[in-house]
This record gives sequence, structure tokens and C-alpha cells, in this order.
Amino acid sequence: MNNKIIIINGPNLNLLGEREQSQYGSVTFEELKEICAKKSNELGLKVDFAQSNVEGELVNIIQESRKKFDGIIINAAAFTHTSVAIRDALDVFKKPIIELHISNIYKREEFRQKSLISDIVTGGIFGLGIDGYILAIISMQKLLKK
Ligand code: DQA
Repeated sequence: MNNKIIIINGPNLNLLGEREQSQYGSVTFEELKEICAKKSNELGLKVDFAQSNVEGELVNIIQESRKKFDGIIINAAAFTHTSVAIRDALDVFKKPIIELHISNIYKREEFRQKSLISDIVTGGIFGLGIDGYILAIISMQKLLKK
């Protein structure tokens, strides 16, 4: 079955609900996990949720995902703008990848307006708050059905 997905979260996303609520809202990381699990379950997807503040750990998670998952949803957070290593790991995945940002990175500081992964992912969602995670799960289910 083509139904196993992983939602990978980068640095500081464990502090959701606490950090910069004007950008990221008040839902906590634990609540977000539950929301994603519920939606994935409804759509018949098996979901894993990962978060790390460490670039190399994220690279390891992405590499290991090749054997375990059919699709990746990734909010690489600050590493989106800096990490060639995460880009290279994603580039080897060869299955659907959705890039996600809670905030609209193109409306923010200049250094956030560049993503090193946008040109190698299947598609992206940004600026829609944590609803972006739900939309990404729905889109991933459609991609995996094809
Ligand atoms: C973010 C945007 C990044 O610029 C930032 O470093 C984050 C979160 C977002 O979800 O809007 O940590 O990826």
C-alpha cells in the first residue's frame, strides 16, 4: 500500500504555541501532532511525525525515509534557507515531497525569501497557518493515489 507518510519538522517547531504567536499561531506542537494524526487517519494514511533541532539528524531522518515512507511533508524551518545538506538528502528521495511553511516566507525578512528546497520538491504550501499541514496531508493522499 502506498500510504505511509512522514511529516518532518525542523528547528524550533517544537516550541509552537509559545514562539512568535503572531507568525505561527497558538496551537502547540503536541496539538498539531494530534490534528495531523486525525486527518491522516481519516484519509487512510499512516503518519509518522518527526522533529529535530539538529541539521544532521534531519538528514538522517530523510535518508531513512527512503525505505520506510511513500511521501514526505517537510517544514525545514530555518534550515530551509541555509541547508544544502537537507536539499541533497531530499533530492535522493525520488517520491512525493511537499514543502510547508506556516508563515508566508515571501512576506518576511529577505533572508527567509529564499528556499533551497522549493525547486526539488513536488509542491509547496506557505502562509496558511497550521491549516497548511491539513492541506498538505490532503494533497499527499491525492499524490499517492495517482
Ligand atoms: C517557517 C519559516 C522559517 O523562516 C522559520 O525559520 C521557521 C518556520 C514557517 O513554518 O513559517 O522556523 O518554516
